[in-house]
Amino acid sequence: MAATRQANWSSRWAFIMATVGSAVGLGNIWKFPYEAGQGGGGAFVLIYLVFVFVIGTPMLIAELSIGRRGGLSPIGSMRKVALEEGRNGLWQLIGWSGVIGAFIILSFYSVIGGWTLAYVFKSIMGAFSDITPDGADVLFNALLSDPITLTIWHASFMAMTMGIVMRGVEGGLEKAVTLLMPALFVLLVFLVIYAGFTGAFKQAVVFLLIPDFSKLTFDVGIEALGQSFFSQSIAMGSIMTYGAYLSKDIKVGQAAVTISAADSAVAIMAGLAIFPLVFAYGLDVGGGPGLIFQTLPIAFGKMAFGAVVGALFFGLLLVAAITSSISLLEPGVSYLEHTHGIKRKKASTYAGAAAFLLGILTVLSFNTLSGFTIADMTFFDMFDFLTNNLLMPLGGMFVAMFIGWFMLRKNVMEELAMEDKWFRVWYFLIRFVSPVGVAVVFIWLLYGKFFAG
Ligand code: PFF
Repeated sequence: MAATRQANWSSRWAFIMATVGSAVGLGNIWKFPYEAGQGGGGAFVLIYLVFVFVIGTPMLIAELSIGRRGGLSPIGSMRKVALEEGRNGLWQLIGWSGVIGAFIILSFYSVIGGWTLAYVFKSIMGAFSDITPDGADVLFNALLSDPITLTIWHASFMAMTMGIVMRGVEGGLEKAVTLLMPALFVLLVFLVIYAGFTGAFKQAVVFLLIPDFSKLTFDVGIEALGQSFFSQSIAMGSIMTYGAYLSKDIKVGQAAVTISAADSAVAIMAGLAIFPLVFAYGLDVGGGPGLIFQTLPIAFGKMAFGAVVGALFFGLLLVAAITSSISLLEPGVSYLEHTHGIKRKKASTYAGAAAFLLGILTVLSFNTLSGFTIADMTFFDMFDFLTNNLLMPLGGMFVAMFIGWFMLRKNVMEELAMEDKWFRVWYFLIRFVSPVGVAVVFIWLLYGKFFAG
């Protein structure tokens, strides 16, 4: 039987830092810049921001509200709220999809977190000094091709995540995020200022912020929507779980807008820290997933105090990744804790160890099993596809439909406690715009993946 949740955020600030911490992660600093680079810059950024505020933010509001109303794990909360509304308990499947999705993301997120950890050390050890583009390639590929080293870094990252989650909401999550998130902002501001002195800052601003609409294709739009979901931690149980620790006096609408604004600001600042270096050192903006690992070390290797700036940069990425990975472990832990009565320490150990083991398949996707593909996808690609392209859009769509069409309007209004005019805007977006927008993208993606050449 599910126990009612006891743990709560000690303050609004702690809650905001934790949720921003979940949203801000590898998605902002590693993924956003390379996606913006490949998607042609400003046009991608503009459409991304539209999705964040028109589709993502209303969904954050929905998830926080359901989480708070249920007060349990995503599975327990969805079931409880559905039953209270006189609906079928099967709505809990949304919760299952979130908890399982978060678990799968955690398994590969930790591997990439491990690369980051490795790069902090490489930078401190001076591995980037005077490195050539070929040298940076060799360095990165040497890491990826070595399963043992990758596994050790992956294990270290997962151990850090588990260590924090084990200590509970106030003692672990809160302490970590209220310390790490401000540190992240300071580091990021420092790096943007640093990038401002490279001479290519203006070029980067033009590239990122002035849209060139000729670059805006349907595919770029889809990429932008997927990226906005990933970045805002939509439908993966994290936000719903954090909502469950939220007290009634906090306005979810304001909170969601703050979270989205901070998340987007960090993504854009990451772009403003990275692209000036990319331009100043003649690197390729379309460098793809290797952009920060393969190209930035070249810049760090050439600049004064590059080892320090490099270590700061990868340290920043590590901090961002950890505050997200704890939010990925938390849904599973809260489920084990509240549905099966397993103590938090044990629950964190079990869930973390299982995600670690699953992550080994991602480790091997870059080396021993790189040739093993199904529908052209390695294990890593499959996990990414399953979560980013299936569970996230479907989960988001069902959350939107549930709150928009299956909960009593009166109850939703009471939970949101929004000004009437804002409620109307939100209600329209969540009932019509979010489900239809996601459905279109979802069908297009599946079509592109399995039916188009
Ligand atoms: N939002 C995180 C990022 O941008 O890196 C990733 C993430 C965290 C996705 C939590 C989903 C989630 F539930």
